This record gives sequence, C-alpha cells and structure tokens, in this order.
Amino acid sequence: MKIPAEAPLIPPEIIADHARLAAEIAAHDIAYHQKDAPTVSDVTYDRLRQKLLALEADWPGLVPERGVGAPPVESFGKVTHRVPMLSLGNVFEDGEVGEFTQRVRRFLGLGSDVPLAFTAEPKIDGLSCALRYEGGHLVQAATRGDGAVGEDVTQNVRTISEIPHQLRGNVPAVLEVRGEIYMRRDEFVALNERQIAQGKPAFANPRNSAAGSLRQLDAKITASRPLHFFAYAWGEISHLPAHSQHGMVAYFASLGLPTNPLMKLCENDAQMLAHFRMIEAQRASLPYDIDGVVYKVDDLDLQLRLGFVSRSPRWAVAHKFPAEQATTILRDIEIQVGRTGALTPVARLDPVNVGGVIVSNATLHNEDEIARKDIRIGDSVRVQRAGDVIPQVLGPLLELRPEATKPYVFPDHCPVCGALAVREHDEKGVPDAVRRCTGGLTCKAQVVERLKHFCSRNALDIEGLGEKQIEFFHAEGLITTPADIFTLAERDRKTLRPLRNREGFGETSARNLFAAIEARRDVPLNRLVFGLGIRHVGETNAKRLARAFGSMEAIAQAKLEDLLHIDGIGVVVAEALQAFFAEAHNVEAVEALLQQIKPQPMPEPLNASALTGKTIVFTGSLELMTREEAKAQAERLGAKVSGSVSKKTDLVVAGPGAGSKLAQAEALGVEVISEAEWQQRAAG
Ligand code: IVH
Repeated sequence: MKIPAEAPLIPPEIIADHARLAAEIAAHDIAYHQKDAPTVSDVTYDRLRQKLLALEADWPGLVPERGVGAPPVESFGKVTHRVPMLSLGNVFEDGEVGEFTQRVRRFLGLGSDVPLAFTAEPKIDGLSCALRYEGGHLVQAATRGDGAVGEDVTQNVRTISEIPHQLRGNVPAVLEVRGEIYMRRDEFVALNERQIAQGKPAFANPRNSAAGSLRQLDAKITASRPLHFFAYAWGEISHLPAHSQHGMVAYFASLGLPTNPLMKLCENDAQMLAHFRMIEAQRASLPYDIDGVVYKVDDLDLQLRLGFVSRSPRWAVAHKFPAEQATTILRDIEIQVGRTGALTPVARLDPVNVGGVIVSNATLHNEDEIARKDIRIGDSVRVQRAGDVIPQVLGPLLELRPEATKPYVFPDHCPVCGALAVREHDEKGVPDAVRRCTGGLTCKAQVVERLKHFCSRNALDIEGLGEKQIEFFHAEGLITTPADIFTLAERDRKTLRPLRNREGFGETSARNLFAAIEARRDVPLNRLVFGLGIRHVGETNAKRLARAFGSMEAIAQAKLEDLLHIDGIGVVVAEALQAFFAEAHNVEAVEALLQQIKPQPMPEPLNASALTGKTIVFTGSLELMTREEAKAQAERLGAKVSGSVSKKTDLVVAGPGAGSKLAQAEALGVEVISEAEWQQRAAG
C-alpha cells in the first residue's frame, strides 16, 4: 500500500478494509480471468468492486494497487456504454461546411434568416474515453472500443493527474464525461527516446503512444507515462446543467475538468471557416496533435431533434485538414487476396515520413487506376495520407522515371491459388473495378481472410485469435472453417501434440485461448451475421437482419420479399444474402457452426416504445417539424416509415391538406392522428 505524503491520515481500519477487499477481488479476478472458474456471481463481484471504489473515492489517499499478491489480469474488463460512443462524419473542403449547415437547417426546417450557432473546436488526435462520475466521484473509465462496448481502464485513468478523482461544486448524481486522452508531442519524443534506449520499439505517433500507454494491464506503467485529457462531450447524465454545447463545456471546466481553450462560438459559416483557418495556422505550434476542427450545433434541444444517422450525429461534423504528401520510390507491387477474392494492389515503398508517420505500404486502388496513371515499379511516386485512411499512391513523377521501367501488367490469375481472376460485368456490360479470384474456398487466401474476418473485433472478437494465430492454425490444418474454432479445445485434448507444447504457446496461453473461444459460444446474433462476411452485409445491415429475424435459421431461410421488407435492406443486399445461402458449402458451414454455438438475439433498442415495430405514414403538410425530422424521429423510436397506406399501416399522421392517403386510411380503418398528437406520443 502506497500513501502519498500529502494525503490526509487514513484510519488503520480503513487501510485494513481496503487491503482485504483488494485481496478478495484479486482472488476472484484470478479465478475468473485466469482459471476460467469464477468463485462468486457477477452481482457479488460487482458489489465488492463498488465497495472498493467507494472506499477509494472517500479516501483519495488510498492508492489502488492492483494485484496484492495477484498477478496482473490478462485482459481488461468490458464496459457496455449506456449511451453509445459514436464517431463523426468528415468534410475536407470549405464548401462542404456550408453544405453541412444547410443540411442541418433543412432538417430542422429553419430558413437562412433564422440564427443558428455552432461551436468550433480542435479535433484532438488521441483516443476517446468516457469517465463516469457518481456523486462527483470517478467510479469508472472506459475506452470507446467498438462504440457499444469498451474496455475498463479505470485503474489506468486514475493515474492521470489531470483527471480529477473528485469533481468540485454542484454535480449531477450521474455524470459521464467524454473527451480525448492525448500525449503532448514533446512528451512523445522523450518517451520514444527512453523506449529506444531500453531496446523497446518506438511508437509511430503521439496518438499510438497515448493509446499504448493507457492500455497497459499494469497501471503502474500508465502512471509513468505523461497523459492528458480534454473534456468535450458527455454520455449518461442525470440532469443537464446547461442548454448549449458551449455551456456544457464551460460547466465541465467549472468542475475542474480540463477543456480546450480554442473552442469558439460561431454565428455563421464565415465565422466557422475563419476559426478553422485560425486553428490551422496554429496547428504546428500547438503542443499536441490535431487533425481538424469539429463543428457542433450549439443548442442542445436542436441537437436532440437532429439525432443520429447510423454512427454519427447529424448535429456535428469534423472538418479535416488537407492530406499530407511526400515523394518516395515504388519498389514493388504486391497483390493481396481478400476474403471475397478481390485482388488488391499494394505498393511497397521506400519508407518515407508523411506528416509525422513513416509510410512503407500504400494502396494503389485497383487495376484501372494503375493503368490510367501508368504507375510503374521503380517510379518515384507521390504518397498521400489523410486522417485514419490507408495511405495512397497518387501517381508517378514522370520526369524522374528511370529508363528501364515497363508498364505494369496486372495478373489475370490469383497469385495465391492460381485460379483464374476475372472482372465481373454488370447488366450494362460495365466491368467491375475489382478483379476477383474464382477459386472460392479452394483458395487458401480467401479461406484465411474469411476466418480472420470471422474472428475480428466487430465480429466474434475472440481474444488471442488474431491474424497471426489464424494463419498458424490454418497452416497446421487445425482450423479451416468457423466451426473448427469451437472444436479446437476438444481435439486438442485428444491429440499427441497439444497446443501447450507448441512453439509460441504455453500452458496459460493455450488455456486462455480455449476460454476465450468458449466465452463466444453465445455471441450476439448480429456479430455472427456480420462475421460470416456476406457481401454488402456490414455491421449496420447485420444489426437490421438480426433484429428483424431473431435467429440465424430465419435469416438463412428468408425469402427475397421478406428481406426487402426490412427498412434499410435493398435489392443489392437481399440478393447478396440469397446468393450466399444458395451455395451449399455456405449452408453447410453455417449449420456446422450452429451445432457449436448458440447466438443470442439482439437486445431490444434501449428506447423501446409503444411505437417500436409500427409502420407509420406521414401525409399532408407538417408544421412543427420537417418530413425528414419526423421520419428520423419515428425511426429513433423503432417505427418504420412508409410512403403509402395499406393494410399493414398502423398509424397515419395527417397534417393540413392531406388527401388520398387520408381517405385510404379511413377506408381501411387505420388510426389517424394529428401532428400535435404525434408529438405527444413520440415524447412517450
Ligand atoms: S465530439 C458524438 N469533439 O473524434 C460524437 N470528438 O471522429 C462526439 N474527437 O471518437 C465526438 N476531438 O475521439 C468530438 N473536439 C472533439 C474531438 C472529438 C477529437 C474524436 C473522438 C471521436 C472522433 C470522431
């Protein structure tokens, strides 16, 4: 137990209580994480942790010390965000900022003469973090993760001196502050010098080094790293202390939380762009990395009305700084084969510094792009990096072209399995931009890439089964289909060459891997659907399908018209699904998998309401909100909005001037309400 010198004297019985609790929790942690044999229920465990945290909050001098006699936990606990942590849409050009503010006005039905204020602030290049305060005490800190579930980094965040353990002033009972954890540039350089001196790998940039420092299982390492925080948003909050974005940020500052001094309230597009220019001009001299400016609608009532589309708020946008470029030599073009057989050309470059990041690989997009720009191996090429996207080769510098170069010939056979690689044509005879290997599951690259996707973070998310391990298991003939993953442990028990005796594995890592696999037998259905890697079925569509059908079997058997009935699912997706389940080997693979796992139905949306699942038609003119807003509001409540009245319609909202749809509704006996009544129902 460490007690800082400046801490108030803590009664010995409190210290003893704390040590006992910590030891008890540590023992449960070992049982749960390392032995996969929990000794208490989750509820009991959570209570113990809450007790410990409350004690630490009451006595700030009690420094939490993980592992009183216990080895560090093998992984972070998971935290389900009560309010999802979303991302921002991006714009790059000045003109797009005007388009954004116009979109907002149109959605809200505000004319150009109505005042509409926006905040403008730097977009910090760090990692987002949610800090949960209860009664003003910091009780939990979580990373963003996939936006729905993050990692519990409470112990680590407690070591960041800038983040108060106790807020000052009048605080809401529950306040989840969100913001960015970052490392300053000078601190990043100094840390890298230390890393190199100790023979450890250097970090690529301040953001990676902040993330690497925070995500340490041993919080003592985090404590030794310089980390900072800016508060700019919030999640769950028991009551809103302000009505505006800038008011909320000022409130955070009053509680003792660090906020960014460059936030400005802007009254029009011109002021927003002027502030963008001002921040851009300061960028190089700021002590921390930023990659753009974020604009947010200031009025919180308007933010609420605007809501979200997919994963981003309609009320905010990130205006990114222009991409950074550099010149280097293209040494080779490697063709990678993806899980759908797509052949992707990747440039192998002489390493070059592009705006602070060393780049040695970049995308060349596709066959036509290489031909159109006549990019040749040996050329000097311009390379560009913008935000998080993969660096790209823009084109060759012809004046620097060496003599003996030849035009690049794109392969027409798969470099991995040798099968023919073709470009599909659409019904108009236009060739697809992508050339694909026709080898299907006989192509090793496709099999391995599909397995990687199946295990990836937003799919099954099996800890310890990363890309390298999948390549290993596939090469050893131990895993070729998703179902094989779940029979691995059983086969391992019977084999003469168990995993624990193989290179790269030991007793503990083998046991942990099997435990991680075991834990995913009840994976949420949407993750499984996404993990199958069906063309055009990304995360959002996977959620739509899981919610609509409730089981894998129902999705597999769905008819085209059933699929088309689902909001957001169009012909392309529906046909891709049908094509997938028309292939016998896919059906077999899914059936074998379902012998092993029991996918769980998606939980109902948090805001399940009386309108969830209802089909609604808006007709006539709406006076309190725009059509787009009404539709978005209905969808937020889980309802489906349709353009025509039929027997399936549950409710018609009719404004002045309603005509044939209203008549149709009356003829069919469908309930009709006014816009004002709708507002009441929507408010719950
Ligand atoms: S607001 C609902 N403000 O950018 C979205 N985000 O691309 C709330 N970020 O995940 C985000 N600086 O990690 C906001 N001033 C700022 C930001 C900021 C950096 C990050 C954040 C977010 C990502 C979205």
